[in-house]
Amino acid sequence: MYQYNDKDQTLINERVVQFRDQTERFLKGEIPDDKYRALRLMNGVYVQTHAPLLRVAGPYGLLSSKQVRKLASIARDYDKGFCHFTTRQNIQFNWPALERVPDILEELASVQMHAIQTSGNCLRNTTSDQLAGVAIDELEDPRPYCEIIRQWTIFHPEFAYLPRKFKIAVSGAKLDRAATQFHDIGLHLVQNEHGEVGFKVFVGGGLGRTPVIGQVIKPFLEKKHLLSYLEAILRIYNLYGRRDNKYKARIKILVREAGLAKIRKKIDAEWALIKHKLELSPERIKEIQEQFRPPNYQLDAVQDTSYADKLANNADFATWVKHNTAEHKIDGYRAAYISLKAPDSPPGDCTESQLDTIADLADQYSFGMVRVTHRQNLVLADIKQADLFDLWQKLDAINCATPNIGKATDMICCPGLDYCSLANAGSIGVAKEINETLDSMDYVHDLGDLKINISGCMNGCAHQSVGHIGILGVDKKGVEWYQVTLGGSSENDAAIGERLGPAVSKQDIAPVIKILLEVYLEQRIDEDEPFLATVRRVGIGPFKEKTYATN
Ligand code: HEM
Ligand code: SF4
Repeated sequence: MYQYNDKDQTLINERVVQFRDQTERFLKGEIPDDKYRALRLMNGVYVQTHAPLLRVAGPYGLLSSKQVRKLASIARDYDKGFCHFTTRQNIQFNWPALERVPDILEELASVQMHAIQTSGNCLRNTTSDQLAGVAIDELEDPRPYCEIIRQWTIFHPEFAYLPRKFKIAVSGAKLDRAATQFHDIGLHLVQNEHGEVGFKVFVGGGLGRTPVIGQVIKPFLEKKHLLSYLEAILRIYNLYGRRDNKYKARIKILVREAGLAKIRKKIDAEWALIKHKLELSPERIKEIQEQFRPPNYQLDAVQDTSYADKLANNADFATWVKHNTAEHKIDGYRAAYISLKAPDSPPGDCTESQLDTIADLADQYSFGMVRVTHRQNLVLADIKQADLFDLWQKLDAINCATPNIGKATDMICCPGLDYCSLANAGSIGVAKEINETLDSMDYVHDLGDLKINISGCMNGCAHQSVGHIGILGVDKKGVEWYQVTLGGSSENDAAIGERLGPAVSKQDIAPVIKILLEVYLEQRIDEDEPFLATVRRVGIGPFKEKTYATN
């Protein structure tokens, strides 16, 4: 994990002092509301339905146990005992008092964390694959590049006031687990015909009210040009992105309006000016890669036989291993998901005591590291197979072992009407109702891979437009209704879901989901055909027919 140097630490410490002074002056009435708004947004503070909301950066989703323990103590001492993990691998506190936010930021700074650039029209947290560095389908670990990008984005003087926010995601694996095609810039580590590794660059992807799949602007970018090319894209966006209409201000609209070819030409012209000034040297890449060296794996871990015995003799454990763990590039190790999707708790929320236990488990079993996934779960990436049984029992004891990763009850869900002042409708309540409908785990497993995403408004924070089933809260004359889409995907086969038909009422949404699942079970060729494949094969017709026949 990257460790701050003195310069990094000084910068974030100084920012805490500045923000403390700004907040004190605001609270004394010396800074007007609109001026303070810009200052607080630079420090991750929104004002929401109940209280300010503080969004803390989780750089490419990587947290140390020390940082997780700090999140636990902040949840305990400054909030209502929990925090929320977001789809961009960040952490949100829903209830801090404004006057105490500077203290929270000081606490965070003591463990190399901050909330800088987690809101506002700037370069946001760079996200990545939760299995980075351990995935079996990985070409190269993307995290060093994420860190290089992080250092480039933080306090970049030219890009502090972009037309709109800007998000970058990097993947180094065959399977895109980081929704890269739905980011302003998506980067895939790829190999060219000479065997050299570089980046395939996507631009203009995004979700929100106008979901767009990113387009390939450069099929192969040499590593040494990473920053100069990103800088050229950002310069063109900063110059030409629309500032007259915030709904048309994202780069996806610029690319769509100007056309990819024209934008590419402009970017290339700008790039030519800076290409040689911003080269990344192999030494610099190596220096950062050193900070992501693999931990000291026990190379004989695979010899352990207790794991096979436990798998054979404990069906619940075997089910958890099947659904909540992933293969690891080192034999004898697996990556274990910590499900934050227990049926009785809001998706993505984690309590202070769960956080403390997770930090302890990370220390005990996974080299002290925790990762955040873009589907709002956590991962302990380096578990010896001999330790999986103990880990499972301990996760089960804190309600974090629901065997549902990638399944129907592993829903992405935004805060919706419960916390967010932009919401049209509740989303946490809908997730709860769907959970109540799908109360049999055997049924959930029979449904196979299924991504249900629920957003409380068209800003789409919970990626509803790329859910296999997407649920979007809409307001009809002050009443909560829900629009359903089918067939979206944020993975390699990126697609935007198709609307099922007219919105359904609040009391109908869970029953409608149940109907959709029944149609899937009727229509699938066999149990190996996942929901998404069935929708793509038969179209939305049969789903639509059954839904509106009974509603
Ligand atoms: C409650 C406070 C929140 C507010 C006020 C808020 C606001 C917004 C707005 C206005 C957009 C649309 C931006 C655009 O299209 O230009 C957006 C998009 C988004 N937000 Fe949120 N959001 C909140 C919470 C969250 C949470 C909890 C998550 C994660 C679960 C999240 C993740 C995202 C993502 C992934 C997008 C769409 C991706 C994109 O930018 O294209 N936000 N948010
Ligand atoms: S999707 Fe809408 S309701 Fe949900 S968090 Fe985003 S802005 Fe709020």
